[in-house]
Amino acid sequence: SDAELNTIYSFAIQLGKDAGQMLTDAINSRRQGLNKPDLPEEKMNAVDIVTKTDTEVEQFIHESISHQYPEHAFIDEETYSKGQSKQYLVTDKPTWVVDPLDGTVNFTHAFPMFCVSIALVVNQKPVIGVIYAPMLNQLFSACRGKGAWLNETTQLPMLGKSLGPLPKNAPGKCIFSCEWGKDRRDNPNSNLHRKVDTFVNMASEPSGRGGLGGMVHGMRSLGSATLDLAYIAMGSFDLWWEGGCWEWDVAAGICLVQEAGGVVTTANPPHDWQTCDIGEVKLGGRSYLAIRPAFDATDGGENARQ
Ligand code: IPD
Repeated sequence: SDAELNTIYSFAIQLGKDAGQMLTDAINSRRQGLNKPDLPEEKMNAVDIVTKTDTEVEQFIHESISHQYPEHAFIDEETYSKGQSKQYLVTDKPTWVVDPLDGTVNFTHAFPMFCVSIALVVNQKPVIGVIYAPMLNQLFSACRGKGAWLNETTQLPMLGKSLGPLPKNAPGKCIFSCEWGKDRRDNPNSNLHRKVDTFVNMASEPSGRGGLGGMVHGMRSLGSATLDLAYIAMGSFDLWWEGGCWEWDVAAGICLVQEAGGVVTTANPPHDWQTCDIGEVKLGGRSYLAIRPAFDATDGGENARQ
């Protein structure tokens, strides 16, 4: 019911704040030399890392949720076991999908683009999303039918107004963001090369050939897929693409973008923008494309930025 959803939403926001405080405390005590450096452990490879803070925050969030909602399922980055089939990660059951620390590499380097990401997914659709980036003082929250918010007071998107239909043409003059992921197989780094090539091609190909017309204002890679989605919802980023994401990287962000009036789709890079199939987003896909709200590209992108 609506009242129930409201209660869970408030709970999720408070949980996000508390978890974010743990991230701040960890950074502060590291700065003051109170803690041994939070040396990351490697998972799949040297860039796929987990810190003691990831594990502690995860434990805190998991315990809080199991205490409050024992009947709900829970998945997150650190408890996910590699052998599990990806199809069964999120079922139709109410499931909390959590990344205790998205942007672990940034956190390790004290680069402020990291956050906690908490989502409630029902029938495989994210209905609540809370993203908190404590060093940036940005708390993003969204709940189905209640809009998307920054710091609980400013409704998103912050730029423009919703114009409805999806762009038919390649949008120019945009900020295009992408993440490189952590897959470094096929040495020397050919997986990384492929991603960089795809990104640069998307940005530089003429729009008739499916690219963004070479007229992008900027290309960014923040190191946090979750924050990319938050900035799409805010209207700061126009387009985001990543191949190789997991549910916990995107679940809360999807709710945010959708509530802000933007679009997220499980799409492969739109080599041909005009025929790219912008279908419904499916959690469990690995490649995601997000488009900011209020993207008026009916004129080929001329008014994408006023
Ligand atoms: C990662 C970050 C990164 C993205 C990866 C994610 P983590 O999450 O969002 O930007 O490229 O696909 O897994 O490991 O920092 O929580």
